[in-house]
Amino acid sequence: ADPVAKIAAVGGARHPSIPLPVDLFGAERRNSAGVDLADRTTLGETVSSLRGFVSLCEQKDDLAQSHKGTKEEAKKAVGAAAAAFPAWAGRSIEDRCAIVERLADLLEAHRDELMAICVSEAFKTIPDALGEVREAVDFCRYYARAARDGLQPVELPGPTGERNVLRYAGRGVWATIAPWNFPLAIFLGQTVAALVTGNTVVAKPAPQTPRIAARAVALAHQAGVPSDALILLPGGPEVGAALTADPRIAGVAFTGSTATARKIARSLLEDDTRPIVPLIAETGGINAMIVDSTALPEQVVADVVTSAFRSAGQRCSALRLLLLQEEIAETTIAMLKGAMDTLRLGDPGDPATDVGPVIDQAAYDKLMAYRARATVLKTLDAPAEGLFVPPTLIRLARIEDLTAEWFGPILHVVTWPSGKLAETIRSVNAKGYGLTMGLHSRIARAAEETEALAEVGNLYVNRSMIGAVVGSQPFGGEGLSGTGPKAGGPNYLHRFVVERAVSVDT
Ligand code: NAD
Ligand code: ALA
Repeated sequence: ADPVAKIAAVGGARHPSIPLPVDLFGAERRNSAGVDLADRTTLGETVSSLRGFVSLCEQKDDLAQSHKGTKEEAKKAVGAAAAAFPAWAGRSIEDRCAIVERLADLLEAHRDELMAICVSEAFKTIPDALGEVREAVDFCRYYARAARDGLQPVELPGPTGERNVLRYAGRGVWATIAPWNFPLAIFLGQTVAALVTGNTVVAKPAPQTPRIAARAVALAHQAGVPSDALILLPGGPEVGAALTADPRIAGVAFTGSTATARKIARSLLEDDTRPIVPLIAETGGINAMIVDSTALPEQVVADVVTSAFRSAGQRCSALRLLLLQEEIAETTIAMLKGAMDTLRLGDPGDPATDVGPVIDQAAYDKLMAYRARATVLKTLDAPAEGLFVPPTLIRLARIEDLTAEWFGPILHVVTWPSGKLAETIRSVNAKGYGLTMGLHSRIARAAEETEALAEVGNLYVNRSMIGAVVGSQPFGGEGLSGTGPKAGGPNYLHRFVVERAVSVDT
């Protein structure tokens, strides 16, 4: 049997060293991620069914581990998806939207199972795993609605006797290439956007998270997406490179690091004979939050902790650089240190856990080595076993001293002098990234100035900087942070289609 199909049938995984807890509800628990653990019945049901899924999946884990795609499979997959394109593109918009909405229903129906895989494979905490499923559902429903509303043919004006119509059509086979940190929501979001607009898709998940992707693809097939219109291609960078090098690819939707986006952009232009195709790249950031002396200290500290340490800092949107106005710097740092002490590191399957392990040994080694050579203001003890990088606060002398995206629970702090807000924003802009920025201030003029000057895709004022909501906070960056289209925004789908104008003399 086809090993990819076998993986799709498995739909589960486990963390080898972190068993889900046996007794979760011995005491009242609340974690700092804002999850209401008071609703024990619902959460209790979720977590116990989640545990059941994990133990069921453990038995089949070897099978899921065993398959990685190859370059040859990448070619075969593109060929099959190209053959499937005319039929899928020929389906009505309504048909495609109905299938994507059915997928949303199936995701909701399989919520606990999907959460279990996110916890065990990507070490998501329970609130984050729930967020993954919710966001994936939101993407499906939002893009179905956006396609229905925005992709119908448009009648355009012309002189009497002439009919002008603008039509939207799928481009062909899209390669969707996803990161491990949103292995369901982003994997499915970009894939569904390509499908609903009439394209077929070869979808490559990150090598760290093939199982959740396999389960998502199996549910998409169950919802009615033909198996050749959406093909799962597990594997790492080599397989991804083979996919984007295939001249039959009509577009690439990529989310991951800036370095990989550059490689893909180069590979799309390498062969002079292939069509010029769009690349949607959503990449990393060195995200700053600026705090002035009028900000509410308690709110600042809560939002900093959420933005920098939730999801173990493994969000592209996460706060990396806290910029404190000199007058309030030391008191804010003291409060922040106290708040960090309340964070619980541990088993991601425990609802009380705030910070779980990082994704793999390579990430752990890189972050720990960096931390070891920094000026650490505050850190925490980590559990002895497991890939736990403790939340860490590092002091830097200047904004310019932070030169890379450290993808973990590591926050840098720099002070800025009173009256220098514009210069501070410009120094952040000068890094060339442009994903998220935060401002905490009660001066309306400061917010206006920041809005005018900040070169970022998502600016957050007086709140945390993570957790963009589909349809409310269209998400995506500029500069080194990406090519700009906003996932979960009203214009995203238009990147996936060609526009054709037809003029008829009647
Ligand atoms: P990564 O770039 O290493 O990998 C991302 C994907 O690209 C994986 O599927 C990988 O196998 C594939 N890949 C790697 N080399 C390739 C190549 N040469 N050709 C084709 N595909 C290739 O990134 P990651 O470590 O998985 O994810 C973390 C990064 O993603 C961070 O930089 C983070 O900021 C970024 N990210 C950005 C967003 C956003 O919306 N802007 C969201 C999530 C993550
Ligand atoms: N959309 C994700 C967030 O806002 C990356 O955190």
